[in-house]
Amino acid sequence: MDAFVIHGGRRLRGTVTVSGSKNASLPLMAAALLAEGPVTLEDVPHLSDVANMVKLLRELGCEVSHEPQQPMKLRVVDEMNSHARYDVVRTMRASICVLGPLLAKRGEALVSMPGGCAIGDRPVDLHLRGLAALGAEIELDGGNIHVRARRLRGARVFLGGPFGPTVLGTINVMSAASVAEGTTVIEQAACEPEVADVAAFLGAMGAQISGAGTPRITVEGVERLDSADYRVMPDRIEAGTWLMTAAVANGDLRVENCPTDSLGALLDRLEQIGVSVEPADADQDPLRSAVNVSSARRLEPVAVTTQPHPGFPTDLQAQMMTLLSLADGNSMITEKVFPDRFLHVAELSRMGAKLYRQGPTVMVSGVKRLVGAPVMASDLRASASLVMAGLAAKGTTTINRVYHLDRGYEQLDEKLRQVGAEIERVRSGI
Ligand code: EPZ
Repeated sequence: MDAFVIHGGRRLRGTVTVSGSKNASLPLMAAALLAEGPVTLEDVPHLSDVANMVKLLRELGCEVSHEPQQPMKLRVVDEMNSHARYDVVRTMRASICVLGPLLAKRGEALVSMPGGCAIGDRPVDLHLRGLAALGAEIELDGGNIHVRARRLRGARVFLGGPFGPTVLGTINVMSAASVAEGTTVIEQAACEPEVADVAAFLGAMGAQISGAGTPRITVEGVERLDSADYRVMPDRIEAGTWLMTAAVANGDLRVENCPTDSLGALLDRLEQIGVSVEPADADQDPLRSAVNVSSARRLEPVAVTTQPHPGFPTDLQAQMMTLLSLADGNSMITEKVFPDRFLHVAELSRMGAKLYRQGPTVMVSGVKRLVGAPVMASDLRASASLVMAGLAAKGTTTINRVYHLDRGYEQLDEKLRQVGAEIERVRSGI
């Protein structure tokens, strides 16, 4: 397995470009199963999760090409197999996004039930309730979810759960409803920008969807969806990670292809603690802008609570913890989307962070400096927080199991080197 070795304390300067969004690309690729003709997707990042989705779609009868610098091309050529096997689903929970498209297009789907993961229990009950409301019969059989329906019918669907709405559940129900008979109204739909991105893509294929990005989505079912060419939105979580990386490494970065429109909660917290994020050019597109980020020498502490969009994203909580570890005072971080998403706490503590957890809340007592140490990556965003800590720390940090980072950050080590970080990828026995 690979590890990153980081020599901390280098000041980062220069330009980084944010890649296309992983969490939009995966459901967009799955939604291509609905198209009657070829589909092209521009800006799909080269990541191991994307490679896993390519493998799954090929097993499901889709031809896929994904060459460097080229749009991804997808075309369904065989609809005989509707089984997403455990081997694939186990490596990537987002495989669940094929459930809605397969059911709607092929009348049936057999998808291995995803298990929990490092960030906690991850049930799919809301996905199933939503599809059942559209008329699907659902059985759990030998670890597989088996859904069937001759014809889906529009319905009123409520998707709120104990921790808020569900992002991929909303996308599954919306995708299936787009070719159902009649009108579907999804209440308490997830408002994440990735939901709106998938809705825009389905719209480009001919779907009739309104309200995506708000808590009520209305879908008028159509007979069929056709070919489309679409450009994936920039990765708001990668962008947010860069903004905080610049701040933690006392850097001065220009971040291009930055979806500032989707980052309101983060920008608000950064302003509070003394990180400046300014438009880099006069002519700005809030969906893909260029910003300059720099920070004060000492950061102010702040309270952060993760929430569904437009609240502070859970996918940036770990990175914020690293940043606040170096603030001047006590901060509070409360996790309200995945209350056990704290595996990074123990690893950051090994580097000298002062963190006190009680249930879903961590008190972060700022220290003057972090110290390099060998640490273990546990999940994608926790790993990003360790990279940030390594860049800020005095001395050398070795981050083992960086395959977690390869799932979601395109060429992270390469991009960091280009702005002056001292980071190398090595083989490691752990
Ligand atoms: C998406 O996961 C993202 N994954 C996650 O990003 C992200 O953390 C999450 O949304 C929240 O923003 C992808 O887009 C591929 P949810 P998803 O269903 O859709 C509970 C990353 O690091 N819930 O919105 O699977 C659930 O347990 C990943 O890139 C139910 O109770 O998350 C959680 O507490 C990690 N029943 C909350 O809802 C359900 O049926 C939100 O989960 C489904 C979810």
